[in-house]
Amino acid sequence: MSKLVSKPVCLADFEVHFLQSLDRIARDYFTSGANQEQTARDNVEAFKRYRLRPRMLKDVSNVNMKTTIMGNEIDFPIGIAPTAVQKMAHPEGEVATARAYYVRIRPPAASSMNTCMIASTWGTTSIEEVAQANGSGLRWFQLYVFRNKQITMNLIQRAEQAGYKALVVTVDQPVVGKRLTDDRNKYSIPSHLKLVNVNTDGLRSVHNPLDTQQSTESVVHQYTHSLMDSKLTWDTITWVKSFTKLPVIVKGVLTGEDAKLAVQLGVDGIIVSNHGGRQLDGVLATIDVLGEVVEAVEGRVEIYVDGGVRQGTDVLKALALGAKAVFIGRPVLWGLAYQGQTGVEEVLRIVKEEFKLAMALSGCAKLSDIQPSLLAYDRKYYCKL
Ligand code: GLV
Repeated sequence: MSKLVSKPVCLADFEVHFLQSLDRIARDYFTSGANQEQTARDNVEAFKRYRLRPRMLKDVSNVNMKTTIMGNEIDFPIGIAPTAVQKMAHPEGEVATARAYYVRIRPPAASSMNTCMIASTWGTTSIEEVAQANGSGLRWFQLYVFRNKQITMNLIQRAEQAGYKALVVTVDQPVVGKRLTDDRNKYSIPSHLKLVNVNTDGLRSVHNPLDTQQSTESVVHQYTHSLMDSKLTWDTITWVKSFTKLPVIVKGVLTGEDAKLAVQLGVDGIIVSNHGGRQLDGVLATIDVLGEVVEAVEGRVEIYVDGGVRQGTDVLKALALGAKAVFIGRPVLWGLAYQGQTGVEEVLRIVKEEFKLAMALSGCAKLSDIQPSLLAYDRKYYCKL
């Protein structure tokens, strides 16, 4: 791998820096996918199987990227996906991320970065501190459903009070996927850090019911298995909806069947996600699932996607397939590791500018110009006109 010698100019440059500079155990935790990491790799690779069919002579002197998600205006359709333990990437962790996307970028580039951050349940900063750092920025809260209902209720109430505008319920983790590097490293969160959002005092450790070899699991996976509710069903979503006034978005849907169920239950949005390839290895890349979900939902709720977005043209492809916005996870951690808040600002600025350029070069002056006919797929370069 080449050494990073100059200022990063694309997201891959931040990754180079990240892989070279971060402590090995932290780097492995953030980088790893489940098992053989087929899906984690494919999330990125799959975007390359879609090619573009740009239109010419369309007057792109004014490219407008503004949109709304759940009724809130954002400057460009790229948000921050929830990622855990951000203080392992940079001492300021979630606070740096929360400040990066809403504050005005410091001079000379005085453009705003008004987008959306999804704060993780497994934060190393409390959801209240994230809210304070972020001020009036748009933030959603990623919720895990816990075996102990009181913990879940408490988190929902805190998120409501701290001004989060939606709950993003992760549905793909009734149990934690197997991450081989974490097991090999016997990964545990560094002793100076804490998962501050969940008070685990007095909780008895319960072993993962699916694991027959207790000793092979990393410490963190044992801890999460002790808390998570593996009895999760769609009734849980109904219960969350009845308990909160906030919009409920389900994250982790990977089939048209589940998308239809989610809509029938009245969810407000869907994030097509495979947890960055960290749960069930071998599932389709999210960009390959998106079309199926969009078709099943028939415009009844907004659909977003995360996983493998690494450049502006990836955003263009996801929107052409019907996503309202995309979310990026690992690239934000790379920015954090590079320079904290400034690094995250740079990651957002670069991907935003790349997306704007991709729109202009494909003849799209506004988001509604981005249509399925912009895409050709695979060797056949099939196009649905
Ligand atoms: C947490 O959600 C993880 O994937 O580690």
